[in-house]
Amino acid sequence: MLKQKQKLLAQANQQLQQFAQVVNGDQPVRPVKPNETLRVGIDLGTSSIVMVVLDQQDQIIYGNFEYDQAVRDGLVVNFIDSVHILERLKQQAETVLGVTLTTACGAIPPGTGAGSAKIVTNVIEAAGFVCRRIVDEPTAAARFLHVKNGTVVDIGGGTTGISVFKGRKLTQVSDEPTGGLHMTLVLAGHHHWEMATAEKAKRDEAQEADVFAVIRPVVEKMATITRQTTQGKPQQPVIVVGGAINFKEFIDTFSQTLGTPAHKPDYPQFVTPIGIAMYDYDA
Ligand SMILES: Nc1ncnc2c1ncn2[C@@H]1O[C@H](COP(=O)(O)OP(=O)(O)OP(=O)(O)O)[C@@H](O)[C@H]1O
Ligand SMILES: [Mg+2]
Repeated sequence: MLKQKQKLLAQANQQLQQFAQVVNGDQPVRPVKPNETLRVGIDLGTSSIVMVVLDQQDQIIYGNFEYDQAVRDGLVVNFIDSVHILERLKQQAETVLGVTLTTACGAIPPGTGAGSAKIVTNVIEAAGFVCRRIVDEPTAAARFLHVKNGTVVDIGGGTTGISVFKGRKLTQVSDEPTGGLHMTLVLAGHHHWEMATAEKAKRDEAQEADVFAVIRPVVEKMATITRQTTQGKPQQPVIVVGGAINFKEFIDTFSQTLGTPAHKPDYPQFVTPIGIAMYDYDA
C-alpha cells in the first residue's frame, strides 16, 4: 500500500516537473497536430491565474500563468482584469501551440455555490472559450493525484482548504482564513517591512532559512487547523498542495504538528490547475 502511494506521488511529480519545464516558455512538450483537440484547465486563484493544456490522454502539453489581484478569497472581484489576463494567456499559448484552444474547464473552492460557478464560467467564456464544466478545486487536485481515500490540504494565497475523500467522494470540506498572505503579514510585521518587500523576501530562496524561522508559527497554525478539522485522525494519506507550501522545511514542520506524516508534491501550486484540465471533456 505504501509502495503504491509512493509510486503515484512519483508519477505526479514527473508530470509536475514536465509542466514546470514548459510553463510560460516558448516550446510545448511535443508538437501538436494541426487538428488535434486539446484539454484546457483554468485556475482563477487569489494570487495567480494558471492555464494548463493537456492532450486527450491527459499528458502535459503546455501551460502558462500570470500573477493577478483580480480574485480575492477564491472569488472573482475584478471581472474585466481576469478576462484580460486570460485572453493574454490564451493568445500566448495558441502562438506556441499553433492551434486554437476552443474549450476549457474551470473550478471553484468547495461550498462557494452556484453564483461563483457562474462568474467563473462567464470569465472563461468572455475570454473566448466554451466552458464545458466547473469542478471544485480539491476534487480536481485529487483526480490528478489519484487520491481515492485521503485528505487534500490546499494552502493558497488566503486560506487553508481541507478536503476529505472516501471512495473518491468528497465527504468533508472546510476553508479557514490562514494562507500565504498571513505568512507575508507576519514577516512584514517582524521586520517592519512593506508587504511587497516581505512578499519578495518570502519567495527568495537565498533568505529561506531566516524567513522560515519567522513564519514557522503560521505553518504550525495551518497544521493545527488541519488536525482539529479532522479530529486528530486525518484520513490517510494527507497530501498538501498550493503555492504557500514552497519551503524546504514546510512539510516536516507541518507533519510534526499534525502528528502524522503529510506529503508534498513538487511544484504544489500546479496540482489543482492540472487536475482541472483533466475535466475538459464532453460530459
Ligand atoms: N516560492 C514561494 N515561496 C513561498 N511562498 C510562495 C512561493 N510562491 C508562491 N508562494 C505563495 O503562495 C501563495 C499562492 O499560492 P497559490 O498559487 O496556490 O494560490 P492561488 O490558487 O492563487 O490562491 P487561492 O487558492 O487561495 O485562491 C501566495 O501567498 C504566494 O505568496
Ligand atoms: Mg488555489
